Amino acid sequence: MAGAVLVTGGAGYIGSHACVALIESGHEVVVLDNFCNSHPEAIRRIEEICGVAPVTIQGDIRDRALLDELFSAHNIESVMHFAGLKAVGESVEMPLAYYENNVAGTLTLLQAMDSAALSSIVFSSSATVYGDPASVPINEHFPLAPTSPYGWTKQMLEQVLTDWQRVDDTRRVALLRYFNPAGAHPSGRMGEDPQGPPNNLVPFVAQVAVGKRDKLRVFGDDYPTPDGTGVRDYIHVLDLVDGHVVALDYLQTHPGLHTFNLGTGSGVSVLEMVQAFAAASGRDIPYEVVDRRAGDIAECWADASRARDLLNWEANRDLAQMCEDTWRWQQGNPGGYR
Ligand code: NAD
Ligand code: UD1
Repeated sequence: MAGAVLVTGGAGYIGSHACVALIESGHEVVVLDNFCNSHPEAIRRIEEICGVAPVTIQGDIRDRALLDELFSAHNIESVMHFAGLKAVGESVEMPLAYYENNVAGTLTLLQAMDSAALSSIVFSSSATVYGDPASVPINEHFPLAPTSPYGWTKQMLEQVLTDWQRVDDTRRVALLRYFNPAGAHPSGRMGEDPQGPPNNLVPFVAQVAVGKRDKLRVFGDDYPTPDGTGVRDYIHVLDLVDGHVVALDYLQTHPGLHTFNLGTGSGVSVLEMVQAFAAASGRDIPYEVVDRRAGDIAECWADASRARDLLNWEANRDLAQMCEDTWRWQQGNPGGYR
């Protein structure tokens, strides 16, 4: 029988949705999470949705002894690696914590995988590796130029995984560069649960709609974009995790290193998002335009044709569904999982 998938960070926003997608597609799942940015309730919700609870181990990817024990106790076949710290601003304030957790943590994970003779890993990278792109849409051949310690951890880990794969041509690595994940499980039972004021647009707008925050601050309306506000490629988290399941399948038959953008291929402005969310929720979204946020870029969206051509994967959920699913989650869980 095929072995299980180890999902690091499986209680987090994307990891929890990935667990559901994996279980629904017939995989056995083992979660490793230290809950530093998530709650065990997320695991209970996975069980509620799927009828099966993933085996869950509370622990850290930097704990080599724990990883060795985990790999010998469970029949793991491949790894989906989501665990990491992800707040750009915080990474500027605390770079060492980011290099330690993301880079050192992944090195420890790979060393333990080596000892256990595991050769297949799907890695959460980010469009942030492209920095401020010279043009859009962005394809996988664009130069990498991260602009924050968080972004550097992703670029460094892409390099580490590239070198690790080259050692042995039976090794399999998928580097998945996500654009802007948003949305929630359509059941309304699982979604993004940010601690404190959200940094990202969609969870912030959702909290304004539900009355938890007064208004959105729109960071600049003088960008060279159609309405002057920033344009991004928001991808429904369900489409994103479907991309992971097909990438994992692809690795079975395609050893080597494969890099894919996971995005929709089209851009949405801040004001378009506000409008779409107001329509989905039936609520007003008050906003005021303030100065640009340091480090922001004008526009960013994916050329996702490589994933379409090789993985036969395309994002097919639209902006309205993304907002409706986020709203269902936000309304039903105003305090998140706590
Ligand atoms: P998240 O914070 O919700 O999930 C990460 C999970 O990893 C959390 O449950 C956290 O407790 C766990 N974790 C962190 N460090 C750990 C460690 N040392 N050991 C064990 N568990 C640990 O974040 P997310 O949005 O689900 O992101 C998942 C991955 O995708 C991250 O690697 C992130 O950098 C990447 N990514 C996210 C986005 C996004 O916008 N959400 C965009 C691009 C890439
Ligand atoms: C952020 C990260 C990026 C990461 C991405 C996906 C920064 C500088 N970059 O990018 O590395 O890969 O998330 O997780 O944090 N906006 C507002 N008001 C708000 C929040 C956002 O106007 O309160 C605007 C932003 O200026 C931007 C758009 O909304 O134009 C999207 O912002 P956000 O959700 O933070 O994503 P990114 O800026 O793409």
